[in-house]
Amino acid sequence: MAHSPLRLGVNVDHVATLRNARGGSLPDPLRAALLAIEAGADGITAHLREDRRHIRDDDMKRLKQEISKPLNFEMAATDEMVAIALDTRPHASCLVPEKRSERTTEGGLDVITAHDHLRIVTAELGRAGVRVSLFIEPSIEAVEAARSIGAPVIELHTGAWCDALTHGEDARAEHEFARLKAAARLASEKAIECHAGHGLDYDTARQISTLPQVVELNIGHFLFAEAIFVGLAAAIKQMRAAMDAGRAEGLAA
Ligand code: PXP
Repeated sequence: MAHSPLRLGVNVDHVATLRNARGGSLPDPLRAALLAIEAGADGITAHLREDRRHIRDDDMKRLKQEISKPLNFEMAATDEMVAIALDTRPHASCLVPEKRSERTTEGGLDVITAHDHLRIVTAELGRAGVRVSLFIEPSIEAVEAARSIGAPVIELHTGAWCDALTHGEDARAEHEFARLKAAARLASEKAIECHAGHGLDYDTARQISTLPQVVELNIGHFLFAEAIFVGLAAAIKQMRAAMDAGRAEGLAA
């Protein structure tokens, strides 16, 4: 497809996790990023955590230098990370909450309590030409807060919805999907670009793609889990097909 109405951002953190388990240089997250792009990814996401448990400073530098598609630098809104992002100059920075004890990013940003700080960081990165995205819960209040913070982009946390589906909790899943839908609509009304991610697989990616306001999905864990069995390129192609099918379904509805 020459023009993609829905972008796929591939998160390569898990490749770095595997590399770090042995302490050597393999597998290389940059190689995964280059292969992902060749297979149809529209961008690469990498999260430089405070504890450097997967992606390292040098990975972020190499990704910025070597990839031909936009780099989405996922980070906590700390002074240290802001300084590194200003030095790296990625296409975008996705601000996320970060807890040392968590296995992955468990919730959206507390955009109410951290409002003023996020406003300062968003403006600072924006002045440097970095598009800031806020990773938020799919709630009306969070979208309103993102607007008042001045963020040009939000990424809706799809984790609770995916989790409800995984556990067969249909009523909760329906409720969570309705929240995602309302948040995506409101973002669009407020001229905020809307992304989504966390815990997505082929089926949930297809479903979330039915929401026409969502223009980017960021996916990591499932793609690399699939890659073990079918290869990364095949997993990305199947994901792309699922997203395109969902988008076509949404447009036809
Ligand atoms: N988007 C954000 C902001 C994330 O923190 C993560 C997890 O690192 C993802 C997307 C991707 O989630 P997953 O690895 O579950 O696909």
